[in-house]
Formats: sequence, structure tokens, C-alpha cells
Amino acid sequence: MSSVILRNVNKSYGNLPIVKNLNLEVKDGEFVVLVGPSGCGKSTTLRMVAGLEDITQGDIQIGDRAINDLPPHKRNIAMVFQNYALYPHMSVRENIVFGLKKSGADAETIKTKLADVSEMLKLDEYLDRKPADLSGGQRQRVAMGRALARDADVYLFDEPLSNLDAKLRHHMRTEIARIQHQYNMTAIYVTHDQIEAMTLGDRVVVMRDGIVEQVGSPMEIYLQPANTFVATFIGSPAMNLFEAKVDGEELVFDKYRIPATSIANVDLNVLASHDTVLVGIRPDFFEDSALSLQRSPSDNLFAFDDIQVDLVENLGFDKEIMFTLGGENAKARLDLRSHVQRQETISLSVDLNRVLLFDTSTQGMLINAGEV
Ligand SMILES: Nc1ncnc2c1ncn2[C@@H]1O[C@H](COP(=O)(O)OP(=O)(O)OP(=O)(O)O)[C@@H](O)[C@H]1O
Ligand SMILES: [Mg+2]
Repeated sequence: MSSVILRNVNKSYGNLPIVKNLNLEVKDGEFVVLVGPSGCGKSTTLRMVAGLEDITQGDIQIGDRAINDLPPHKRNIAMVFQNYALYPHMSVRENIVFGLKKSGADAETIKTKLADVSEMLKLDEYLDRKPADLSGGQRQRVAMGRALARDADVYLFDEPLSNLDAKLRHHMRTEIARIQHQYNMTAIYVTHDQIEAMTLGDRVVVMRDGIVEQVGSPMEIYLQPANTFVATFIGSPAMNLFEAKVDGEELVFDKYRIPATSIANVDLNVLASHDTVLVGIRPDFFEDSALSLQRSPSDNLFAFDDIQVDLVENLGFDKEIMFTLGGENAKARLDLRSHVQRQETISLSVDLNRVLLFDTSTQGMLINAGEV
């Protein structure tokens, strides 16, 4: 295995910049997940590492080798493409072992790897079929198997589970995590799926418009987003943002006055230089006050009383409620112990240690990083 280093990497098509000054170091044995909206340059970044796109400017290194000028087949990379292409004239078995055979693996290794991969991906019974006789999800698993069977320095995955149903996706996700740890794979993995990003990534890279907005552990990204873009992109439903006036040491919106001194890691001097801030509260961090009363008095709870519930969606264990706060549509996720109904009035509590503040104009985080 090997590390991957991208240094000031730029990619333009004609005059149009697509990836802008990207710097990233993926350590040996590390699993890095790229997330970001459609078109932000995730696939382009992977394809530059694989050698399928040239780099307009900058350097890419694998281990201690500069690879800018190496053709794809000399980079020792295995890739699962977003639009995976299988060899149509070959059986599933031949597709899976093709790369291994080409790299000169012996018959015993090929046999073991094939058995391993086909069991893991639940492909045993399809080994003699041709790709045309498989479902989309089965084909995607073959593409995955073909990459995993290879003994590569770096594995690149471009949304490899997008065609699978929820159950199979979950199975594959745990399998990928298992083999990644077992073989200590260095991997860059692109996904739209937040759960995949959170559960698979040692680190997550959040991109927007060809720029890296934040790199961090999944919990850093979730609890200490660098700005409102990361804050609202990661997490579902998205983080609520309320514009508040700074009034001395209080944040005021609607009829509520939140004591800023109780919010964890706030620098009051920084706050004093702002007339307004954006208060960020994740839907998951609201609780039904009727239930949170039973918690220890040392908890740093703030209650938003008299909230009128517009809509309740029951999701089984959770329920999502929609309401209006400070003129904004807002959401909270409550657990099944809450029996609130549509049109009822409720008090919602939030642990002020979980509340985030952002600069209204730059959208940057105003809270100092703490422990996650
Ligand atoms: N050959 C090309 N010529 C011009 N523009 C291109 C070319 N290939 C990709 N692009 C543009 O580059 C941008 C980034 O594309 P890319 O495929 O990397 O996005 P992505 O983040 O993988 O998106 P998605 O999540 O939809 O797969 C897009 O705006 C796309 O239209
Ligand atoms: Mg893509």
C-alpha cells in the first residue's frame, strides 16, 4: 500500500476551472471519503489520480513516486467507476480475475481471491453468467469485485454502491469496512451517501465547486463544521440556521434570548464585534422539553417555549417535526417517546454545548474548536 499526495492540483476544461488548487494527503492505509454536490469535481479528482485525466497544474504522488506522467496501467491503482464497465464477452468469474491474471498472479492466489471476493459480494451463484444477464446491482458488485481482487497500491471508488438496494448497500458497506481494515487499504471513496461517508471514512473531504471546504474526521465535520455550507451539507435533515441579534452577551431572535456565555467555546470578544450571527442547531439536538426535564440539572439546556408544530412525520423510532422559528422553517428530530401532534404547541430544548454560531457575512464558524 501507499500514501497519495495531491499538491496544488488544478484541472480546467478549456478556460473553465473545475478543480481548484486541491491539496490532500491520504496516508498509507487510510480511507478518505470525498463528498460534495453533483458537479463539484469528485470524479474528476479520482480520474486524475487514476491517470484517466491529465492534470492542468500541480503534482500527484503515490508513495514516493511522482505519477503525473505515468500512464494509468503503471500506477498500480484499482478503480471502481461511477459508470462501471464490465467486459461483456467475459463471464463474471473472468471479469473478476482479469486484472489479477494480467498482473501475473499465480493460480492459487487467483483461486483464493476469487473465492474470497465472490463470497463477500454474494456473487457465488453468478460466476458463470455474462454481465448482460445480471441486474444493475449485480453488475455493480462484479465491478467492485474486479477492483477488490487486485493487489493495488491504492483503491479508488466512485459511488460504487449507488445501484444497490438499501439492505445490500448496508451489507456492502460493512464488507468494505471489514476488508479495508483487514488489508489496510489506502482508498479514496466518492459518495453522495452521508452514512457511507460517516461510517467508512477515517477522514472526510467536503468539496464545493472544485474547492475543498473542510477535511476532518467524520465527527469533526459533523460537530465542528468549518462553515454553513459544510454544516448544512452534512447531516440530514440539514442543520437549522437562525439569524440572531447580538445584544451584549445574549443572542436574540424571535422572543428568545440565548445566553451566549453558556454556549461552549464561544469567544465573547469575537461575538462583540458582530451585530448579528447565525445560530446553528441540528434537528437531532432538539428534544421535547417534557422529556428532557428528567435529565441532570447540570445539563446546559435552553428551552424554546410555545413552538407551534406545523407537521409531524413519523419515521418509526424517530419523528421529524416541522415548525417556524425566527421566521425560518425549522426541523427537529424527536424520539418516539414524544407524542406531539400537528398543530400542538411544544417546548423544545437544546443543549447549548451543541449550538454553533456562524458569521452572517462570511458564513465561517465563530466557535473555537473543542474536543469532539
Ligand atoms: N470532458 C469535460 N469537458 C468539460 N467539462 C467537464 C468534462 N468532464 C466533466 N466536466 C465538468 O466538470 C465538473 C465536475 O465533474 P465531475 O464529474 O468531477 O463531478 P462530480 O463531483 O463527480 O459530480 P457527480 O456527483 O454528479 O458525479 C462538472 O461541472 C462537469 O460538467
Ligand atoms: Mg461523479
